[in-house]
Amino acid sequence: MQSTEQQVTVQTTLIFAVLNSLHQFLYVFLRYTQLSVGLCKEFVSMGFGSSKCLSTARLDGKVAIITGCNTGIGKVTAKDFFQRGARVIMACRNLKAADEALEEIKKQSENCENCGEIRTTELDLSSLESVRKCARNILKDERQINLLINNAGVMNCPYTKTKDGFELQFGTNHLGHFLFTLLLLPEIIRSTPARIVNLSSVAHLGGTIDFDDLNAERKIYWRVGAYSQSKLANVLFTKELDRRLRKANIQGVNTYSVHPGLVKTELGRHMNAAIPGFSTFTSLITKTPEQGAQTTIYCAVDEKCQNESGLYYAECKSKEPSRAALDEVTAKRLWEVSCKLVQLEEMYNPFEVPK
Ligand SMILES: NC(=O)c1ccc[n+]([C@@H]2O[C@H](COP(=O)([O-])OP(=O)(O)OC[C@H]3O[C@@H](n4cnc5c(N)ncnc54)[C@H](OP(=O)(O)O)[C@@H]3O)[C@@H](O)[C@H]2O)c1
Repeated sequence: MQSTEQQVTVQTTLIFAVLNSLHQFLYVFLRYTQLSVGLCKEFVSMGFGSSKCLSTARLDGKVAIITGCNTGIGKVTAKDFFQRGARVIMACRNLKAADEALEEIKKQSENCENCGEIRTTELDLSSLESVRKCARNILKDERQINLLINNAGVMNCPYTKTKDGFELQFGTNHLGHFLFTLLLLPEIIRSTPARIVNLSSVAHLGGTIDFDDLNAERKIYWRVGAYSQSKLANVLFTKELDRRLRKANIQGVNTYSVHPGLVKTELGRHMNAAIPGFSTFTSLITKTPEQGAQTTIYCAVDEKCQNESGLYYAECKSKEPSRAALDEVTAKRLWEVSCKLVQLEEMYNPFEVPK
């Protein structure tokens, strides 16, 4: 027999459990609704076709780094920059796949006059050690950095942690790129004019930054929510980086965040495993990687946006992101928290260019 006191404790625990589940359900419902509205708008706008970057600007003598470009949108971007004359650094986690992609790009560019140079380097964004090593090597080997395209990404994967214990999507899509960018920033500042493009997504509409549980350790893991959080972090980082560059009085380094559209790439690999027939359904409504790369290329090379910075783009024009993405307090806090998580030395000032 339980005492009255024990019964009250059990009842209270049950009430809290029910309230907690209800709260989580409402949270997920609200986020799903925002995301669904965004996706519906996306489908409607796709009926009007896909925009193209029309700029013929050349990149001769410029150095461009692209993360995760052995496939998908990144590979198309690498080919475009190479054909515009840039020296392209393909920063990928699988060097064999990257070398194969490089050969394919060279083969497809055989008839192109005035191509640039292209090489691969190893970068695993889910390991802070790998990010630091890759940045060190680039700083040693390259004379300048004019374009940094933070393209790599993982989406809706089962709950996994990075080598440093971060939830995989937040750790790879945001923290890895955050550290990589800040380590390269002094060199980017030295190489002005320079542009930094962060691949985000319409999925940021369903995101919030859960500072109490960034790694989803205390709530039921919702893969879509974790992806949305990481993509919201990309937009917030783009804006905050721009604000800090202006505050440091640095001219000529512009930042852009991009939604490429719904693109048929390997990104949906975990969705395919979870929902049979997902890729067949989406292939009917998605863009090709060539179409999907257009907004990235626009932000990287087009003259029309050369005086813009800190904004969010889709279909080769700037667009209003979610309200959460415009929250300066959250952006500042995310920056500070990210600095601690990636263990940036307190003395390190990414806005200071070494003499
Ligand atoms: N496709 C879409 O509909 C869509 C929509 C909105 C936003 N986006 C964004 O667009 C970007 C490009 O995606 P995509 O569609 O081209 O996808 P994808 O074909 O899957 O390419 C993603 C790339 O990221 C790399 N990558 C993943 N984890 C990495 C890590 N830990 N370190 C280094 N590289 C890593 C992958 O390398 P491996 O080949 O070794 O896995 C691959 O090269 C992503 O940021 C994505 O979030 C895509």
